[in-house]
Amino acid sequence: MQTRIGSVGSLEEGKDSVLATRTSQYKTLPWRALQLFGFFIALCITFSIITIYTIRRAGIYSAVTTVKSNFVPCDEQANSLDNWRKSPTNLLHSMSDNELLWRASFVPRIKKYPFNRLPKVAFMFLTKGPLPLAPLWERFFKGHEGLYSVYIHSLPSFKADFPRSSVFYRRQIPSQAAEWGRMSMCDAERRLLANALLDISNEWFILLSESCIPLYNFSVIYQYVMKSKYSFMGAFDDPGPFGRGRYNHNMAPEVNISKWRKGSQWFEVNRKLAINIVEDVTFYPKFEQFCRPACYVDEHYFPTMLTIQTPNLLANRSITWVDWSRGGPHPATFGGSDITEEFFKRILEGQKCTYNDQPSSTCVLFARKFAPSAMEPLSRIAPKVLGF
Ligand SMILES: *[C@@H]1O[C@H](CO)[C@@H](O)[C@H](O)[C@H]1NC(C)=O
Ligand SMILES: *[C@@H]1O[C@H](CO)[C@@H](O)[C@H](O)[C@H]1NC(C)=O
Ligand SMILES: *[C@@H]1O[C@H](CO)[C@@H](O)[C@H](O)[C@H]1NC(C)=O
Repeated sequence: MQTRIGSVGSLEEGKDSVLATRTSQYKTLPWRALQLFGFFIALCITFSIITIYTIRRAGIYSAVTTVKSNFVPCDEQANSLDNWRKSPTNLLHSMSDNELLWRASFVPRIKKYPFNRLPKVAFMFLTKGPLPLAPLWERFFKGHEGLYSVYIHSLPSFKADFPRSSVFYRRQIPSQAAEWGRMSMCDAERRLLANALLDISNEWFILLSESCIPLYNFSVIYQYVMKSKYSFMGAFDDPGPFGRGRYNHNMAPEVNISKWRKGSQWFEVNRKLAINIVEDVTFYPKFEQFCRPACYVDEHYFPTMLTIQTPNLLANRSITWVDWSRGGPHPATFGGSDITEEFFKRILEGQKCTYNDQPSSTCVLFARKFAPSAMEPLSRIAPKVLGF
């Protein structure tokens, strides 16, 4: 007990002494505290001034952008030229035709590109569904990455299943049903052009079908198209019933019969003409309303429109060979047994045309129509006859 009391007592003694010192501290506090406080305030103000000055001079903007680039990567990307320069990797979009054509009609007004632009050829496949000649095309494109892009317009119901390694993998664009000889066919072609125009690197645009094959290797075709002064749009004035006979006088004054043209739908156009086609709102309604079967609009709309707008940019001939010699409403289709060296000799050597205003014997770069049974003999003969 003693010790407890003693200890308590000693504690209380200690308490007392603490209290005593506190009391003496309280007495001296106001003066010393004020001194300390004043010193502290002065320190703070000095430090703040130095900090603000330093940040203003050196760091604030870079500090802010650093924060931005760390936390808002999307914003940073949206502001980069790469968004306009790089090829879109995903071809699917939710734009309607109207929205797509509007977007595709954007044109840079400064002609010189502020970056290294390697011009590409857009190969646009207008198909029903499968591509039975795909293996031939795969071989054709192999080793030329960066110089071409592939686009496929097929029936909307068709589900493509190309392997990841294929040049056709995920190259389908949002499509709608297209009927031969009807405006829906031209709509599909404009849809292909518009999607391909979204890639600023595409400079030349070639329309092909699933039954088309290339007649030369990639290098030859690229050079031929690149060096041409003209775009290869078939356009001729046919005075007969299947030409001028399809003209409707309601198309005047926008379309005069003297400019009425006919040509195969399988064209090659450069970027300028591709834009003309997607941005057209003058001729489209005339053709839609007054060129209906037996006026086959896909044979007249683009050739006539471009003959009116830019006649001097047209070669007026197609670069896709077809055989109409068997007669009838459809050109000949070639199967496995037709594929011989002599067959290709006949196509490749029997031509005369002008190329850049000079006589030439290289006149067609593609040929149609080939049946799926042609695939196997074609792959055998291609290295020797087609050069790839
Ligand atoms: C079509 O053009 C010719 C001259 O090329 C002109 O004489 C004629 O009046 C024009 N027709 C129409 C309907 O504008
Ligand atoms: C194509 O035809 C138009 C007239 O329709 C003409 O002005 C142009 O010179 C022709 N192109 C070539 C390469 O001859
Ligand atoms: C492409 O074909 C041309 C002519 O047939 C030939 O000279 C050239 O070597 C071929 N190029 C390649 C890369 O095979």
